[in-house]
Amino acid sequence: MHLTMIAAMTRNRVIGTGSGKIPWHLPRDTKHFRDFTNGKHLVLGRVTFEEMSGWFTNQTPIVLTRDKSYTPDHGLKAGSIDEAISEAAGMGAEEIAVCGGAEVYSEALPYADELFLTLIDASIEGGAYFPDHEDGIEWEEINREAFPSDDENEYAMTFLHLRRVHPSSLRPPRLHRL
Ligand SMILES: NC(=O)c1ccc[n+]([C@@H]2O[C@H](COP(=O)([O-])OP(=O)(O)OC[C@H]3O[C@@H](n4cnc5c(N)ncnc54)[C@H](OP(=O)(O)O)[C@@H]3O)[C@@H](O)[C@H]2O)c1
Repeated sequence: MHLTMIAAMTRNRVIGTGSGKIPWHLPRDTKHFRDFTNGKHLVLGRVTFEEMSGWFTNQTPIVLTRDKSYTPDHGLKAGSIDEAISEAAGMGAEEIAVCGGAEVYSEALPYADELFLTLIDASIEGGAYFPDHEDGIEWEEINREAFPSDDENEYAMTFLHLRRVHPSSLRPPRLHRL
């Protein structure tokens, strides 16, 4: 299973207010996210999933929750990242895309093969953060595309695509068997 991760963060690593809102309006990034997730199996924390209610079209969300009685109104649920990966593998998926939020990014980062990061050229106050992806993990830059701010997108942004160097030696062993 190939594990990708997509996130948008500011210069100070903010990904959200922490109370149900994304503190920017960037339609270019929204389109980037929609294009990337098109047709894929996604892993989302229950908080992010509920925030995105009604958003999913042809994606298959797998919602992480510890609440055994929780039933998502769309997609599937899983009690752990391992279980989410097994669910996706069982449906024939070869990639699983982790879409946040903060708690889930932190937990899934050790297993990520590729990161698709939108670097927003602003420092914004927030309550949810992307983890330090360079702490102990080496990444190769695959692509970088920069865009200035414009009438629709209030901040400049860069789409950055990173691939993990030496995946097998650095990843925790439990996913190797999946
Ligand atoms: N900028 C971006 O790219 C981006 C993307 C996504 C989200 N966000 C932002 O991120 C923030 C939300 O992040 P968050 O950290 O508060 O919440 P979250 O990661 O979306 O969801 C946390 C919840 O997921 C479940 N969970 C997490 N790890 C689990 C595990 N290992 N096993 C089982 N269940 C697990 C738990 O649900 P239960 O409580 O039900 O047990 C937990 O309370 C929001 O501000 C949102 O806007 C930003």
